[in-house]
Amino acid sequence: MNLETESLLPDANGISRAAAILRAGGLVAMPTETVYGLAGDARNDLAVAAIFAAKNRPHFNPLIVHLPDLDALRPYADLPPEAALLAKAFWPGPLTMVLPLRADSGLSPLVTAGLSTVAIRVPAHPVARDLLRAFGGPLAAPSANPSGRISPTRAAHVLAGLGGRIAAVLDGGPCAVGVESTILGLDGAATLLRPGGIAVEDIARILGHPLLQPADPATPNAPGQLASHYAPNARLRLNVETPLQGEVYVGFGTADALSLSATGDLIEAAANLFHRLREADALAGADGQIAFAPVPETGLGRAINDRLRRAAAPRPHP
Ligand code: TXA
Ligand code: MG
Repeated sequence: MNLETESLLPDANGISRAAAILRAGGLVAMPTETVYGLAGDARNDLAVAAIFAAKNRPHFNPLIVHLPDLDALRPYADLPPEAALLAKAFWPGPLTMVLPLRADSGLSPLVTAGLSTVAIRVPAHPVARDLLRAFGGPLAAPSANPSGRISPTRAAHVLAGLGGRIAAVLDGGPCAVGVESTILGLDGAATLLRPGGIAVEDIARILGHPLLQPADPATPNAPGQLASHYAPNARLRLNVETPLQGEVYVGFGTADALSLSATGDLIEAAANLFHRLREADALAGADGQIAFAPVPETGLGRAINDRLRRAAAPRPHP
């Protein structure tokens, strides 16, 4: 990737330019009150795959979906009573809630890493809210830094890390909070998944009871990290050049009936990954077997292979 990254002022022109880039599937770094986020259309598989590519992320961690206000939530997630209470108290603001995903949400499965929950946040930063309103849809946005580096709190940090890899950055000055949002799981009993910009004590006070903590601090709190997460029903074989008889084959770089990318494009392959897994699983049936063609271990290929290895891992009994 070698783009001329545009630096946009957060005025009406800058916002409408940024919204146009997002509508065309491009990526824009936007200021939020916590850190700068790398935003892309959360319904567009290719845009979401491009976020992972720009950050050079080795895993498909699920991403936070940003919305302009609580009223925009309904198509994407259910709102359990405690989540409604917290939304009223803390949105807009640095609170992210992991909620039950709606079946017909239209969100890219790459955003949720194939989970049945989705992380939602309504940011308070006026530039992020202007952009969300101008764009008129959900924006997936992880912190706007290369994977493994420090989260950016100024437009200059974004340019230093991602300049040339993204279409634009909206310069909204320094971020006020400076640490990422607090993340709560609310698809069951309220559980702290990541401490952040809103104090746990303030959340407990609104709920009237303490939050659950993940049972063991060593437990990966992003379910996307679990070895056998999102295992299909069928068994999976990887790095297969020639499928066995009866196997459902998912190709790469060749024109197969099912393919991650006929042209061998890794961003397209990432965008297709969860769709092809589901399709192959449906075709194979519970006792069937799926074989995946080799995918090169470079760029997004690392994240694709990581996910495929997890999907192929032996799984615990249900
Ligand atoms: O303040 C913030 O939250 C910033 C700004 C840009 O909004 N965003 C941010 O995103 O920190 P990111 O991608 O760096 O962190 C998202 C975290 C990840 O640790 C991910 O595992 C977790 O959210 N997450 C997302 N969806 C989840 C889900 N369905 N279940 C559990 N964890 C989830
Ligand atoms: Mg981050």
